[in-house]
Amino acid sequence: MATFPIEAVRGKFPALSLTDEGRRRIYLDNPAGTQVSQTVADAVSFCLITTNANLGGFFETTLAAQKVVDDAHLAMADFLGAASPQEIIIGANMTTLTYHMSRTLGRGFDPGDEIIVTRMDHEGNVSPWLQLAEDLGLVVRFLPFDEQSWQIEEAALEALLSERTRLVALNYASNLTGSINRVKSLTETARQAGALVYVDAVQFAPHGLIDVQALGCDFLVCSAYKFFGPHMGILWGRRDVIDALEPYKCRCSSNGLPERFELGTPQIELMAGLTAAVDYFADLGAAAGEGGSRRQRIARAFDVSTAYENGLALKLISGLSNIEGLTIRGITDPARMGERVPTVSFTVDGIAPETIVRQMNAEGIFLWSGHSYAWEIVHQLGIPAEQGVVRIGVAHYNTAAEIDETLESVHRIIAMLRQQRS
Ligand SMILES: Cc1ncc(COP(=O)(O)O)c(C=O)c1O
Repeated sequence: MATFPIEAVRGKFPALSLTDEGRRRIYLDNPAGTQVSQTVADAVSFCLITTNANLGGFFETTLAAQKVVDDAHLAMADFLGAASPQEIIIGANMTTLTYHMSRTLGRGFDPGDEIIVTRMDHEGNVSPWLQLAEDLGLVVRFLPFDEQSWQIEEAALEALLSERTRLVALNYASNLTGSINRVKSLTETARQAGALVYVDAVQFAPHGLIDVQALGCDFLVCSAYKFFGPHMGILWGRRDVIDALEPYKCRCSSNGLPERFELGTPQIELMAGLTAAVDYFADLGAAAGEGGSRRQRIARAFDVSTAYENGLALKLISGLSNIEGLTIRGITDPARMGERVPTVSFTVDGIAPETIVRQMNAEGIFLWSGHSYAWEIVHQLGIPAEQGVVRIGVAHYNTAAEIDETLESVHRIIAMLRQQRS
């Protein structure tokens, strides 16, 4: 396999070389949002300057704007392995799309129907379903994750399914523990019971190739700003399922696909950036091997970037593991790096996560503390929600040297805080 061209990659992201009063930045806030390549920023700007019009007319700019929109749907079909761009619904963000789709699906649910949500999901894939259940009188079942494997186990799902289960909402990868779920096999289990499967792939999308057809799920949602694109969300829906749905929409707006689900004027300039983000992956794949379709080049990009990221995750986890009183909340077994994304969360006995994070932020290491909307996870683990965890989130533009510097900072700050207390 080709090695990962880290220097060339970093050269594509202008934000990586910015400094604050001479101090370098280390971006480890990636699970909350990634930086963008120059090509993404240029595409947004170019669209605003050259093709700034609404859709549906006959003049130059409206026709060009329509092409931007069509290209974004095609790009996302390639990115997700969708059968057609008509299955791609683009909107404000994952949460808005999920609220919208949950209301649409709810039109076909009856009181007493059951839905399953997990204790591992971000609130964006929990709250919309809980509130739908409240409105419609649905029964909600909570699916816990296994605290040994850090994953959702098929047996636990099976135990909750019944002939009344209409939908299972689960995540591909956790934004707190980093664990990747076996979505294909969980989907098979759910579908055998006749349930629809709605997958939150927001945290998986920057780290691995998604193939919606191979997964077999009914819906999959992700957010472009987590995979080096602009702030927007994308929902894939299986054609035969969305064909039959009647979303809330204006009476006079199109009944076509995907327009039926895309309300109002789209974020056209961001769609230009979205295509550029997908093409960024394709270019990375082109550098890693000859030829192939855009989809094949994207796959090659993930071959090299996932292997590179797993190396950084391992380095980070082993460097944290020797700090006394520090507990990593997720998979740490070196043999299981392929079952997690490089998002590593931890708590430290007697020290509030925010105290550590504020010190690190002051040193130009950007990362987060808190529950990060993984509200169910902190509750299942008995972590005070107002404190949460320290979360270090690696992206493929991070380097081994940045991980070393981060580890040195974590070690030193924890030692300093302990000394201050004693
Ligand atoms: C796993 C996961 N799901 C959903 C969301 C919500 O995404 P959005 O901000 O696009 O609504 C996030 C955001 O961090 C997330 O990490």
